[in-house]
Amino acid sequence: MRKKLVVGNWKMHGTRAANAELLSAVLAARPYAADVAVCVPSVFLSEVAATLASSDIRWGAQDVSAHAQGAYTGEVSAAMLHELGCRYTLVGHSERRAYHAETDAVVAQKAQAALGSGVTPVVCVGETLAERDAGQTEAVVKRQLSAVIHTLAHCAAEMVVAYEPVWAIGTGRTASPEQAQAVHAVLRAQLQAATGRAEQMKILYGGSVKADNASQLFAQTDIDGGLIGGASLKAVDFIAICRAAG
Ligand code: 13P
Repeated sequence: MRKKLVVGNWKMHGTRAANAELLSAVLAARPYAADVAVCVPSVFLSEVAATLASSDIRWGAQDVSAHAQGAYTGEVSAAMLHELGCRYTLVGHSERRAYHAETDAVVAQKAQAALGSGVTPVVCVGETLAERDAGQTEAVVKRQLSAVIHTLAHCAAEMVVAYEPVWAIGTGRTASPEQAQAVHAVLRAQLQAATGRAEQMKILYGGSVKADNASQLFAQTDIDGGLIGGASLKAVDFIAICRAAG
């Protein structure tokens, strides 16, 4: 039985005061049966690390450089994230793919850089609405995942995968549990063929997960938890989602 994982993706939100309030509520509501983590803007990582250090709540970044070090102004390396105690970093979020032109190859290099420094990459894949309507969902997510599998090679089983249909992100339009499960099953089969260890790997669902739809999504065989955007910024909602994964 895989332990569920709920990851909050704060995106570009937060203030030091709001973060402290949110985390204090999340900490006070422990224990959770699921593993819980927050992926926060990198400027907040130090302070979030200090707040969560003595708890079982983990923290991570939302992106990582593909490079180890050097003249890459504005970038943050995996080693830096590791030094700040990051357990996870998101990689290949659809917003990075869309607004920062991240290709499958770059996403794969970032995942490799993260793993190489002991930070678990949460590799995001997902189709746009146009791709879904054109019947390309399976081909798109398999292509995105395959680039990472190929690059990580024998370490591929160490990643976490997140299926986030682009049309469900921030839209209030979530994939139905059946739609999500169908794609998760495809991804698990692909991971199994590549690693032989897919039964131990976590595949999260993300895209308008809310307190009132989380349990149904998390009840699906191949959905091992969630990657939560908007609802991770409100303590009551995020706590309810974490509990739904219990
Ligand atoms: P929402 O939960 O706001 O739809 O965002 C999902 C997401 O992009 C998490 O990474």
